[in-house]
Amino acid sequence: MATINAQIRELRKVSGLSQTTFAEKFEIPTSTLQDWEHNRRTPPSYVVSMIDKLLASEKADKPVIGNSILNKAKSAKDNDEFYTTYETIEKEVSHYTAAFRNKIVLCNCDDPYESNFPKFFIKNFNALGIKKLVCTSYMPSEKFSLVSNGYVLMLDNVPKTIGSTSEDGEIYEFLKKNNSVKRLEGNGDFRSDECVGILKESDIVVTNPPFSLFRELISLVTEYNKQFLVIGNQNAITYKEIFPLIQENKAWIGYQFGDMSFKVPQDSEPRETRFWIDETGQKWRSLGNAMWLTNIDIKRRHRKLDLCKCCDAKAYRKYDEYDAIEVSKVADIPLDYSGIMGVPITFLNKYNPEQFEIIGEANHGSDNSFDLFKPTVDGKLKFKRILIRNKMAMGSAY
Ligand SMILES: C[S@@+](CC[C@H](N)C(=O)[O-])C[C@H]1O[C@@H](n2cnc3c(N)ncnc32)[C@H](O)[C@@H]1O
Repeated sequence: MATINAQIRELRKVSGLSQTTFAEKFEIPTSTLQDWEHNRRTPPSYVVSMIDKLLASEKADKPVIGNSILNKAKSAKDNDEFYTTYETIEKEVSHYTAAFRNKIVLCNCDDPYESNFPKFFIKNFNALGIKKLVCTSYMPSEKFSLVSNGYVLMLDNVPKTIGSTSEDGEIYEFLKKNNSVKRLEGNGDFRSDECVGILKESDIVVTNPPFSLFRELISLVTEYNKQFLVIGNQNAITYKEIFPLIQENKAWIGYQFGDMSFKVPQDSEPRETRFWIDETGQKWRSLGNAMWLTNIDIKRRHRKLDLCKCCDAKAYRKYDEYDAIEVSKVADIPLDYSGIMGVPITFLNKYNPEQFEIIGEANHGSDNSFDLFKPTVDGKLKFKRILIRNKMAMGSAY
């Protein structure tokens, strides 16, 4: 849990008020609030808790017992602070090496000293033939304490002595000596005018953004027609901002799809599952439904999916409210059915646009116009499905 001083700072930021107005509102002397925010004195925890509840009730427009801004912010933060391992990046980028030659690569949610994205691209700058690497950071670096502003790393060459086997210490030394990290004017929010200006100058965006901002990042990057290779949660596939890109073959799934392990901050709450602490004390979480989303061409999406089952009206039931058959496993997709089929989301990992067409999704009542119906068979609700048609099917629909 954040310190009490950090909590009061967070509450004031959430309130959108200046220190003076916040202090007036809660009848605290401004100098006391400043002392609290700058860790010179510590506020009593009951005061912080009272302010938290008052602000939460104000936001809800009525008094709500037990409501808390801090708990909400904490759980959103918990889902946003997943730090990518070097190996995850290396494994994925190895499939796209030709795409980076002579390109300007932007990592726009990446602290140059702490994220593995800059580390990976610096070590592989020469091997990939990158023209320029730009990394922008939202948070001040604890190591180099460049306070409050975001900052930017810009590199248009890396000494040949640095390569994939270089130690991390060598990279830090190089960055420090080279003076290639500068402060941004603003806070490094990838949506800010300053960062959008940097995006416009770039060719490929590669990052793992906060999951809560995934759709905004993809929308922005596609608005400016940039290539991208970005980590997200598979839940995002059915979002109204993401699904049409997949349907229109403007984005597709990368190679790693499913289990991924991430480092999480030291103040992360332990969890019963998918959480562990390694021998160095580092906390970890894994996701079973992580993915890379990209618009860089990959060999896998041109590979034909082998199908061996034949359609049989008894084995493949139709949905209650829609003329499509339910196929609960990708391996069961019949080779001879030319009508619409509902398949699990994992199908996208095998999707070849020359073989299949994506028709829509059958979700559970989202506000998305691509969500065509609720997938029930005999009144039983199925998991959300992607609706596809086999363009090469020899048989007919029934
Ligand atoms: C999921 S973490 C991943 C960090 C890094 N990309 C990695 O994979 O290790 C997301 C990062 O985005 C940063 N961030 C949060 N909001 C942001 C924003 N609006 N613009 C840019 N970065 C942001 C956070 O500080 C955090 O470091």
